[in-house]
Amino acid sequence: MFAQRLAQVSASATLKVAAEAERLRRAGIDVVDFSAGEPDFPTPEHVKAAGKAAIDANFTRYTAAAGIPELRDAICARYTRDYGIEVVSAEVLLTAGGKQALFNSALALFDQGDEVVTHAPYWPTIPEQVKLVGAKPVIVSTRSADGFTVDAEAMVGAITSRTKAIIINSPCNPTGALIDENAVAVIADAAAKRGIWVIIDLCYEQLIYADTPHNLPRVLSEVAPDSSVLVGTLSKSYAMTGWRCGWAVGPPRLIAVCNNIQSHSTSNVSSITQRAGVAALTSPQTCVTEMRDEYQSRRDALLQWLLVEPRITCVRPAGAFYLFPDVAQLLSPDMLRTSSDLASALLRHAHVAVTPGEAFDAPGYVRISYASSRDRLREAVDRIERFVTDLDRGVIEGKSSQGSVSRSDQTPA
Ligand SMILES: Cc1ncc(COP(=O)(O)O)c(C=O)c1O
Repeated sequence: MFAQRLAQVSASATLKVAAEAERLRRAGIDVVDFSAGEPDFPTPEHVKAAGKAAIDANFTRYTAAAGIPELRDAICARYTRDYGIEVVSAEVLLTAGGKQALFNSALALFDQGDEVVTHAPYWPTIPEQVKLVGAKPVIVSTRSADGFTVDAEAMVGAITSRTKAIIINSPCNPTGALIDENAVAVIADAAAKRGIWVIIDLCYEQLIYADTPHNLPRVLSEVAPDSSVLVGTLSKSYAMTGWRCGWAVGPPRLIAVCNNIQSHSTSNVSSITQRAGVAALTSPQTCVTEMRDEYQSRRDALLQWLLVEPRITCVRPAGAFYLFPDVAQLLSPDMLRTSSDLASALLRHAHVAVTPGEAFDAPGYVRISYASSRDRLREAVDRIERFVTDLDRGVIEGKSSQGSVSRSDQTPA
């Protein structure tokens, strides 16, 4: 009944954990939700004001599908300011979030049977989009023992004659890991020599806490200027997930094709959002720094609290707003067998919602979003501690009666 292309694609269904959390909330239970993939801050006031002013000025019609010149120019100026590279507006397409920039690129570049190399643990939308356009994701694993860093040799080693592109996400959702600049140079060089595209998802680029150099746009502009795409967004840095504004930066020939695809699908990003985006990008960036500093101190507090339990280990994430702890030592064949069982039991017994690692192709881990107030983070850790004590006393029953959460029935942000 449905198109063949859907056969390989996991449904973008609501998270099972999120649905269960919602059911508990409706029943009046206080759930601490660590599963959200979005900032808990409100959109900054000056950005909201620009959106309201756009409505009052009746700036409510179609715009060019690629976006208004002021916003495209503001994005060019940002790349110059932050990365020291020159970008012209013909290289910029505004999209409904970074997600659409990635999807436009997939539609523009990947054919049936093509292979696309990416790394795991991954944000599930990356491989699902690849499958949605008929191509095949080829997954290179990263390991917590190496801090989840992407190994350039392993990525290059995964290239075959069918490889069409390599997708890199840094800072990475769910691990928060950064790819090394040199690794990107090696990968991009190998790709450029073979006519392979490199797509870098930089959606968390302004939420980096480590001092590590991370000028990936400059590396790509030097090594693979004609065959690379950068994906960015206002969603995470400016707490604007609902406004839907992201972008692709790439060679004009690709941007023109993506623009064509978009003009026949969704057309322009909301005109109101675009005006708000200009305010976000051209005003002083203190709101970004303030939110980043707050995420960093939450990360540090949460790590300190969580690691009091010796059976939980965790790589200190360099960016984004997730911890990705290894919880394998809390699992056992006769109690909670998988991280998915653990997430379900944690929600049922302690009313704490986390996303199981299975969703990111990383069983044995859970993703905890620290885009929550410090009080809520502390409350959740207290509940987790009590839960672990109950687990040790054997008073937590095993698998959920509703079944465990598998990778295929959830698509977290
Ligand atoms: C790694 C990564 N890339 C891209 C996105 C897309 O976000 P948006 O479409 O809101 O820009 C997300 C959202 O969760 C993400 O985690």
